[in-house]
Amino acid sequence: MRVSPAELRIESLGDCEHNSPLSATSSVQFVEDERRVLIQHEVLPGDEIHRDLSLEKAGPRRRIFFDPNTTTAAIVTCGGLSPGLNNVIRSIYLELRHTYGVRRVLGIQHGYQGLNPAIGEPPIEIHGEFVENIHHLGGTTLGTSRGPQDPTLVVDFLAQSEIDILFCVGGDGTQRGAGIIAQEIERRGLLKSVVGVPKTIDNDIPFVSLSFGHITALEEAEKVLRAAHTEARGAVGGVALVKLMGRDAGFIAAGAALASQDANFVLVPEVPFPLEGEDGFLYALEKRLQDRGHALIVAAEGAGQHLFPQPRDRQDASGNTLLHDIGGLLRERIMIYFRERNIPMTLKYIDPSYIIRSVPANAWDQILSNHMARRAVHAAMAGKTNMMIGYWDSEFVHVPICSAVAQKKKMDLSDDLWQGVLRSTGQPHW
Ligand code: F6P
Repeated sequence: MRVSPAELRIESLGDCEHNSPLSATSSVQFVEDERRVLIQHEVLPGDEIHRDLSLEKAGPRRRIFFDPNTTTAAIVTCGGLSPGLNNVIRSIYLELRHTYGVRRVLGIQHGYQGLNPAIGEPPIEIHGEFVENIHHLGGTTLGTSRGPQDPTLVVDFLAQSEIDILFCVGGDGTQRGAGIIAQEIERRGLLKSVVGVPKTIDNDIPFVSLSFGHITALEEAEKVLRAAHTEARGAVGGVALVKLMGRDAGFIAAGAALASQDANFVLVPEVPFPLEGEDGFLYALEKRLQDRGHALIVAAEGAGQHLFPQPRDRQDASGNTLLHDIGGLLRERIMIYFRERNIPMTLKYIDPSYIIRSVPANAWDQILSNHMARRAVHAAMAGKTNMMIGYWDSEFVHVPICSAVAQKKKMDLSDDLWQGVLRSTGQPHW
């Protein structure tokens, strides 16, 4: 990841004139702004250590910017679902209410739509009863939508509703939207904080080594792979093809395959593969069937887009280019290939689609989402803005939104994840 020290600087609304209410708690560990987490975790002998290439560590500050007695915060959840969204809503509320004593917390309904009164429903007041059991539920109790709203209307709305802090929970599209709102707030000279909590089952946000919901989605996907493997083993020339989410990065496909240890081919956006010819996927599949009689293929939805004549020219509301259906293409080409060669083959195609992301968070994602949410509150109360919580080298950090959305995180093919996939599948090194 190429980034300069200036691009890692966190914006602040001004001097922190209030003592944190946490000062009354003896065991609390305050974090000074000077405490930083290095971007480069590994050094070779002779390497220089770039201290300025580091991220501000997240956590409670001794002095805070907002007076909790007069502060109103709002939470918005946007984009696709991810296990842990309700945990984030609940933990943000609880931290604001019980740690800081903030009395008014609003829930914005259905994503950024809810910040535009012309089309959105009004916010709801979040209270203890509202959040009591939501952490056991999948989805988001606030609802979600894709796409930005006019930042001038949004900031008008924040001003009219006297909202001082906006927590934006979502993926890169959401964080980009949050950054635009923060810029409009700054342009008007208003003292409002915008803090993001990164969310995506795809795990493709820079400076977030693991996003909440990803591990739960992997677990669900791995169950599907187990079923698919059973199907493939039971049939004559059994081939199970599973398409999993993962638009720009193959973390879900690779992670689920590595967890299952049953996959024989893992196709991801980061690795373009040939379909035909002696080096191609179809020939390798034929060999696999000859040797072992069954095969499990895992394809990320963003894999193999180079096999289509042209990229699709349509985008979803978040600005993501819509994908061609790699599952459909592989299914058809596998059928044709084996039919033409008269090789007995039974294909089972499974697309679990949304099933892997609409479930409640597992224990790890409950913990991760809680940590991120509470740190987002500490950052916002300290007057930090235009930033997102990151997770780097097992530490929670502050990341300027513009750096978080400048690129997409992809799998590093020399890393343990992909190397582990290559070892466990034995698939060709395309
Ligand atoms: O961003 C996460 C994700 O689950 C992607 O893997 C997938 O392409 C996308 O969301 C689909 O979401 P939706 O159909 O809600 O736009």
